[in-house]
Amino acid sequence: MQEESRLKEKVKEFWDRSSCGEVYAVGQSENEYYASESKARYELEPYIPEFAKFYEGKGKDILEIGVGMGTDHSEWAKSNPKSLSGVDLTPRAIEHTKKRLSLLGLTSNLREADAERLPFDDHSFDLIYSWGVLHHSPNTPQAIKEVFRVLRPGGIARIMIYHKYSLTGYMLWTRYALLTGNPCKPLHDIYFDHLESPGTKAYSVEEARNMFAPFSKVNTKVQLSFGDLLEGSVGQRHRGILLSVAKTLWPRKLLRSVFKNHGLMLLIEAHKE
Ligand SMILES: C[S@@+](CC[C@H](N)C(=O)[O-])C[C@H]1O[C@@H](n2cnc3c(N)ncnc32)[C@H](O)[C@@H]1O
Repeated sequence: MQEESRLKEKVKEFWDRSSCGEVYAVGQSENEYYASESKARYELEPYIPEFAKFYEGKGKDILEIGVGMGTDHSEWAKSNPKSLSGVDLTPRAIEHTKKRLSLLGLTSNLREADAERLPFDDHSFDLIYSWGVLHHSPNTPQAIKEVFRVLRPGGIARIMIYHKYSLTGYMLWTRYALLTGNPCKPLHDIYFDHLESPGTKAYSVEEARNMFAPFSKVNTKVQLSFGDLLEGSVGQRHRGILLSVAKTLWPRKLLRSVFKNHGLMLLIEAHKE
């Protein structure tokens, strides 16, 4: 337990140094800064709006867990929900999202909170959304239990967590296990030590389905990410000649067809009866 608390502090420190997507934000004014990040995000990751279905927010009570810079959160706010709430572990993310929404003249009930202990009553939301967050929390199954608890019967959760058998995982394994003479290092440890914040986890489809077992219906889809395809400014933590060469020679077309089930992103749509 103490170990989990220490790890969560490290996760918080990591994301409070820089929110996800800041690297894509440029511009003279605050408006330009956030607009440039949205544009880059949805160009690089068109599967986000396809999965989120922001247009379904109308008239719903919505919660987003782990708002980050607030890119998707502002799309939920534009969807004309009945109510919108957003949480994140870090003050930086909450500040970004508040600023972004106020520039757009939109509102949300935003607060710092832990996904593993959501500050909401049971059955509070029709739709819960979380993109790339719950695998960073030390106790991911507990965070999923919380999603189930605060979701209303008849509600839907759309959650992206990392998929274990991914090109990203294989590349990191090559770099940090094979090339360091440690080929027995399991994928679990590779993600834990080398992908984004300390303690990141990734799950097989079966493991994810087990965590979502209390839900009545669960659809899963593996998605190749820009990281798997070495697109955008991927690999900031792993700079080096090998990565530069790989980025140039990466057979993206081939990988899209042969390795399409080896993406890092596991998209989960879970219904509660
Ligand atoms: C990779 S970023 C994703 C942010 C945003 N969803 C996006 O797609 O850009 C991960 C975010 O999860 C947040 N986070 C990590 N653990 C959390 C927890 N236990 N509770 C709430 N937020 C958490 C971090 O602070 C960070 O903002």
